Amino acid sequence: MKVAVVGKGGVGKTFIAGALSRLIREGGYEVIAIDADPSMNLYLELGVKPEVFKKVIPLCENKALIKERTKVGGLDENYPVFNLNPYVADIVEGYAVETPEGIKLLILGTVTGAAKGCMCPANALLRALLRHVFRRVEATVIVDMEAGLEHLGRGTIEYVDVVLNILEPSIQSVETSLRIRSLVEELGVKKHLFIANKISNQEQEKFISDELSRHGFSLDLKIPYDERVRLSGLRPAGLTASLPPIELVAELKRRLYE
Ligand SMILES: Nc1ncnc2c1ncn2[C@@H]1O[C@H](COP(=O)(O)OP(=O)(O)OP(=O)(O)O)[C@@H](O)[C@H]1O
Ligand SMILES: [Mg+2]
Repeated sequence: MKVAVVGKGGVGKTFIAGALSRLIREGGYEVIAIDADPSMNLYLELGVKPEVFKKVIPLCENKALIKERTKVGGLDENYPVFNLNPYVADIVEGYAVETPEGIKLLILGTVTGAAKGCMCPANALLRALLRHVFRRVEATVIVDMEAGLEHLGRGTIEYVDVVLNILEPSIQSVETSLRIRSLVEELGVKKHLFIANKISNQEQEKFISDELSRHGFSLDLKIPYDERVRLSGLRPAGLTASLPPIELVAELKRRLYE
């Protein structure tokens, strides 16, 4: 199963991607977690130590690898020629960090360049890698996406099986998620779930449900707000703490395998 976790900034994508990866891994599956957010903090939710993380070169900062794979060159420096279909089949094995629980974590980093959708060599490599893991790799893949929409273009996200569209009780978050929903539909993704996170009371849940139903949609799952998650996420207790938000992510996992 290939899963993308999307939504506005700060709604809880990284927390949910991390908890879901760990719960699926706990069930004995191979899991590849991909941190596609420039702020690169998924490692914390997966129990990777900061000392280990510090030594990792995010893929799009790995100039040597990018150069080797995309063969930047050409006669004119202003118009470099490079391969749009670089070899990526060995990247998970060679460059993923293994978490204490055996999840393979790939850290993509920030693609610099005028436009994120640009076809610079780093971007070509990342897109080829995502297409490869979505289409060719036999493992559960969970991608913690960057906030916003611009990267959700054609060429990668349509290959996922499920989009988890996370919302929090705010009109801005609902607006972003509705725009994501239209895009996801345009791209023909098979399964989409609206997940309300950080819900503290019925009024907040009703707000989100009402906004979605005005557009003909309904809420698929709600995850409660819990101060312990805000303060320390999944560390240090990991999944052993019986936190209501983690129980709800476990419910989400069951729905994904239905
Ligand atoms: N159910 C919850 N209850 C309480 N706090 C939560 C909950 N879910 C997430 N949080 C907290 O909200 C903050 C933002 O969560 P997180 O980093 O997962 O969001 P994000 O969508 O990945 O943000 P960004 O767009 O910045 O990457 C964190 O402090 C996190 O611990
Ligand atoms: Mg995040």
